[in-house]
Amino acid sequence: MSRVYNFSAGPSALPESVLKEAQAHLPDYQSLGYGVMEMSHRSKPFQQITQNAEAALRELMGIGDEYAVLFLQGGASMQFAMVPLNLMNGSGSADYIDSGSFANKAAAEAKKFGTVHVVASSKADGYTHLPAITPELFHADADYVHITTNNTIYGTEYTALPDTGAIPLVADMSSDILGKAYDINRFGLVYAGAQKNIGPAGVTVVIVKKSLMGKALRCCPTMLDYAVHEKEGSLYNTPSCWSIYVSGLVFEWLKAFGGVAAIEQQNRAKAALVYDYLDESQLFRGVAIKEDRSIMNVTFTLTRDELTDTFVKFALSKGLANLKGHRSVGGIRASMYNALPLEGARALVDCMKEFEVANR
Ligand SMILES: Cc1ncc(COP(=O)(O)O)c(C=O)c1O
Repeated sequence: MSRVYNFSAGPSALPESVLKEAQAHLPDYQSLGYGVMEMSHRSKPFQQITQNAEAALRELMGIGDEYAVLFLQGGASMQFAMVPLNLMNGSGSADYIDSGSFANKAAAEAKKFGTVHVVASSKADGYTHLPAITPELFHADADYVHITTNNTIYGTEYTALPDTGAIPLVADMSSDILGKAYDINRFGLVYAGAQKNIGPAGVTVVIVKKSLMGKALRCCPTMLDYAVHEKEGSLYNTPSCWSIYVSGLVFEWLKAFGGVAAIEQQNRAKAALVYDYLDESQLFRGVAIKEDRSIMNVTFTLTRDELTDTFVKFALSKGLANLKGHRSVGGIRASMYNALPLEGARALVDCMKEFEVANR
């Protein structure tokens, strides 16, 4: 078996030790004679798996009892609808920050259920920077403020959270959850698709303040009501059992690594290696403005555009996979989530240097 350094934006690399553990127990979990994919979601062993995963996530993110932790399906995109269906219950309006195409989609979906104020946007600049946010932008009667903490496609990431005062802050944290430390108490609700820093696609983590639940709009389908899932311990219907199991293994791996603060340090070191080289290179150029650079997704282009595909192929020949930028923006994107080791970032810089020398 030969594994490459995988820079995929999602679904992305998982820790090899987690894959091996999952593989070893695939046909037989804890001597039951069958595996996690084959057991009832209401069985004791599976309930233990869910409880352990939740406890580990709570520990990693410092999540207190005033928050529910839900393991749902439908991806982060389902949350674009679930958030307004559950939280647009006061004035019926919410403030959205448009910092990328996922943020834009979230706002568009919310418009189906109430009034959406897009209070800041960087769309006109191709989302190469984050829109500036000041407290005056927010509407006092907004039911919540929605932010995307890391913009996966454009490679931008907030370094400071907006001050929304008493208005609950809702975050799509799909691409930087567990990659850097956040004070969960700053949020009313956080959601994230699993397929970057959490585990395999198929499960979506929602962390929601219990006080915000139980007031869903009348039209809200049962399956989209947070209170229903919380009451049933994420077992209202059959959950994404395998994804929850593997996510639990990833949480344990991260705990053993030293937790979120330790991995954040490594993520910052990886990002610094690549950005430092981008800043001195004549051939490669960073896309996002310096102040807003993401430590998870590094986006860049080549000054000689015609060499982009050649570079991607060259990198692959060196064991560096999935470096092509998102189809909507092109260029190169190096997604360096938790499971990518420091050596992966070093190998990328070495590869860029070699390519630049050869193409001077
Ligand atoms: C920030 C962000 N939000 C939302 C999504 C959509 O996630 P999903 O495919 O799980 O619906 C993605 C996917 O990459 C993302 O990066």
